[in-house]
Amino acid sequence: GPACGGRCGSGAATSFTLTSNFSSAPKCNTGPDGTDHGSWTKEGDRVDLAEQSLLNKLIRRSLVWNRNRVEVLQRDPVSPLFSVKTFEELRLVPELLKGVYSMGFNRPSRIQESALPMMLAQPLQNLIAQSQSGTGKTAAFCLAMLSHVKPANMWPQCLCVSPTYELALQIGQVVEQMGKFCPDVKLAYGVRGNRMERGVKLQEQIVIGTPGTILDWCTKYKLIDPKKISMFVLDEADVMIATQGHRDQSIRIHRLLTKNCQMLLFSATFEDSVWKFAETIVPDANIIRLKREEETLDTIKQFYVVCKDEQEKFTALCNLYASLTIAQAMIFCHTRKMAAWLTTNLSKEGHQVALLSGELTVEQRAAVIERYRNGKEKVLVTTNVCSRGIDVEQVTLVVNFDLPVDMEGNADSETYLHRIGRAGRFGRRGFAVNMVDSQQNRKIKQLDTNNLEEVELLMS
Ligand SMILES: Nc1ncnc2c1ncn2[C@@H]1O[C@H](COP(=O)(O)OP(=O)(O)OP(=O)(O)O)[C@@H](O)[C@H]1O
Ligand SMILES: [Mg+2]
Repeated sequence: GPACGGRCGSGAATSFTLTSNFSSAPKCNTGPDGTDHGSWTKEGDRVDLAEQSLLNKLIRRSLVWNRNRVEVLQRDPVSPLFSVKTFEELRLVPELLKGVYSMGFNRPSRIQESALPMMLAQPLQNLIAQSQSGTGKTAAFCLAMLSHVKPANMWPQCLCVSPTYELALQIGQVVEQMGKFCPDVKLAYGVRGNRMERGVKLQEQIVIGTPGTILDWCTKYKLIDPKKISMFVLDEADVMIATQGHRDQSIRIHRLLTKNCQMLLFSATFEDSVWKFAETIVPDANIIRLKREEETLDTIKQFYVVCKDEQEKFTALCNLYASLTIAQAMIFCHTRKMAAWLTTNLSKEGHQVALLSGELTVEQRAAVIERYRNGKEKVLVTTNVCSRGIDVEQVTLVVNFDLPVDMEGNADSETYLHRIGRAGRFGRRGFAVNMVDSQQNRKIKQLDTNNLEEVELLMS
């Protein structure tokens, strides 16, 4: 059964401990309502955003420092926005400040610096915030929730909705760590399997869960009085709306809340679909987002090699191995089959290669990445499925064995930038090499990037 069965939400202190061992947790392929939140790529690999997001957190060890500036669009241009440079300046209660420092946070990240004053301001302000994965969004609103609640009031005041069971547990873990010196603030998990008696009012000030269960708790079971919720947080909106049903449930929860409830929405991306969803849920919002034009990669040298076929690509790749001193490389293929083929052939050439493929479970993938991060393997072959959210600092060479294309078969600039962005983290020098066949030769010109240079690798 679920780890928190019965224990959470009982009114007692939630001494919930979560290890990164998710093997006993149910697979997150389907949501609590049986909906499917994966989508399939043309090559038959499943892109499960929630799994990717979880994986990312399992392997990440620290904050991703963001080179990009954020853009802050204020709802009320009259009130001057102050930014905090230290956590002290937020005037948190000492217990909470102690909790923040106990997590090893010395100063706010860029998104936190902008978002925290808005989230803590009086009168309450709504916020839509976008910042890349790992830049401290979740930590930011956990702090805001802990700071917002009145511990003397023994009823739910903050409601936080997250796309899956596992992600909800992770947020809870942050709240528990950060709030460990605030013993009067209690937390309940509104996730499937956490069975509650109908009509018994929850006493916890913070409730974190998935949309289906939270909706049930507000309506069917009446454990939460939505009219008393004064802070509503939607985390990972981009992941959330990839799940059919989650969006509708979130909108239904939102409708139960009062107009005075503070609405906060977070996302790592800002596609149109996320944006539309955000605007439905969060009226009159302050907006914080990454500035697009700064997502350039000027420290990365980008090349392409035109090849006749796969075999020639392979030869070119082997020549690259010889001519470059590689710290660590990632090679992207279009299909699983190609990735497997390439891995086998590179191994035959005596290269030590790891294969990260969509067939692996989340835990297995985390293990492969962990080995790679620790340098046990120097080269990682992978497909599109794994191309996002993997942060390994020491990658200096990214090879696109196949160019990234979208569903229509056009060059996919966004994925391209994500991929090659892995090679030049923190302003370090990196290289990206694209293997293109004559058909893709046309596509490479469609890529929204500059400094792309054609090179010829001798096919010896
Ligand atoms: N101010 C800070 N100083 C140091 N570490 C931090 C700070 N804020 C957050 N972290 C750490 O950085 C990591 C990423 O933070 P967090 O999970 O909040 O990012 P996120 O933006 O929510 O990421 P995602 O988009 O993947 O959900 C966590 O390990 C967190 O503990
Ligand atoms: Mg997060």
